[in-house]
Amino acid sequence: YTEEELYRPNFHFTPKKGWMNDPNGMFYYNGYYHLFYQYYPDSNVWGPMHWGHAISTDLITWTEKPIALYPDEKGYIFSGSAVVDIKNTSGFGSLENPPIIAMFTYHDMKKEKAGESNYQSQGIAYSLDEGLTWTKYEANPIIKNPNLKDFRDPKITWDAIHQQWLVVLAAGDKTMFYRSKNLKNWELLSDFGKDIGAHGGVWECPDFFPMLVEGTDDYKWVMLLSINPGGPNGGSATQYFVGDFDGKTFTIDDTFSKDVKQQNGLWIDYGRDNYAGVTWSNISEVDGRKLFIGWMSNWQYAQKVPTETWRSSMTIPRELVLVNDGGHYIVSSKPVKELQNYIAKTIKKESLKIDKETVITDQSLVDLSKVEIRFTLKDLKKDVYTFSFSNKSTNTIQFGINKKDNYFFIDRTKSGNTAFSDLFAHTISKAPFTKDFNTMEVRIIVDKTSIEIFYNNGKTVMTEIFFPDKPMEYFSVSKANTEYTIENLIINQLNFN
Ligand code: FRU
Repeated sequence: YTEEELYRPNFHFTPKKGWMNDPNGMFYYNGYYHLFYQYYPDSNVWGPMHWGHAISTDLITWTEKPIALYPDEKGYIFSGSAVVDIKNTSGFGSLENPPIIAMFTYHDMKKEKAGESNYQSQGIAYSLDEGLTWTKYEANPIIKNPNLKDFRDPKITWDAIHQQWLVVLAAGDKTMFYRSKNLKNWELLSDFGKDIGAHGGVWECPDFFPMLVEGTDDYKWVMLLSINPGGPNGGSATQYFVGDFDGKTFTIDDTFSKDVKQQNGLWIDYGRDNYAGVTWSNISEVDGRKLFIGWMSNWQYAQKVPTETWRSSMTIPRELVLVNDGGHYIVSSKPVKELQNYIAKTIKKESLKIDKETVITDQSLVDLSKVEIRFTLKDLKKDVYTFSFSNKSTNTIQFGINKKDNYFFIDRTKSGNTAFSDLFAHTISKAPFTKDFNTMEVRIIVDKTSIEIFYNNGKTVMTEIFFPDKPMEYFSVSKANTEYTIENLIINQLNFN
């Protein structure tokens, strides 16, 4: 197998060549979903940051476009966001042709090397051709550095409730809020987070938006917040907060605050490979979903994974849903529905009794390198339920539910090439239960080198990558101590030709 055949995902976005990290500046406009990303075209490790660009009509099939933003004399172009300025509040376009406004962090390497600490500031650029080409604003930076070493990753939101543009950005151990009428002049409102949430590392890539609570007319404000290191299974990961925003200050919901303390943070994804994720802007133009994508890697080993031509892929785009689970707010995720358009064939089994180790399906029936699998587990006892993808080279990726000790897990310790980093497979990853259950709904997406598992309607998610010596050939289930049933098993073969 060539590296291309073996490791490049079938339906997760990867750049054709070069290094990629965070997703940036995602917006929807005129039938296209736009994805930008931290990009270094000249190497497969991090370097002078550009914004790469790709577009899609359905969030699944992406077309790479020319690089959108290049570093310049003011610095590298770090992470940020983009909005469609429909009312032309910035004056950069017109009502007939609204400008797209991107805000990004200028990272000034010269200042950093000179030992100064104020090297990060925010700049904007505008596009009058739907994000294809960009003009940087001549008066950049538009938010100057207030003498903070970490001051980056501005995320713009149109706050329709208070009729203002908002920016949230990451400032070390907190986030800072700004507001504006015209996207050019920004006023500091407040900060948030010093004394709440996980603080095992620096805060990065925030996002902030109102969300309807599922099944109600109430809404809450949600903050996504990435930290590196300090994730629940080591390295980088993304937590979230739920509360209220009065137009100036974000206040955490009381019960949520207790949950955060008790669980040491609530996480969008407990696996090790979903970082710096944020949401699409201007989606209300389509159907109001909250759409999210993350970088499917981890700073612990991202620059060492065994691909040469390109490095890193994005997660499957996900719809976020805010659930009120008996007074506890949970941000759940599910793969976008557009993936269903790629189902080539479906295998169904209504009920499978598991009393011994069983191969559920193999490569002769299904190509397990592009598959979506769903099932429901019934009658779960204090026992361990283990599933696996494996091949004849004895590579295996195991995952499941340990109901004896109350956690979900992924075990990639024997998944193939793990030697490139000591931190890649030194331990299994775990996610806590939010509450007890004896039925569990499971949904899995496998794309050659990644597994994304959505438990209980996406209330607990685990995403991890792996690098097998050859494609996985079997999907199996291990025996538990007590017999149990897998119900409504659906195996969807996906096809992307
Ligand atoms: C997160 C991050 C951001 C920064 C970017 C640089 O992964 O560290 O905070 O803007 O990557 O590439």
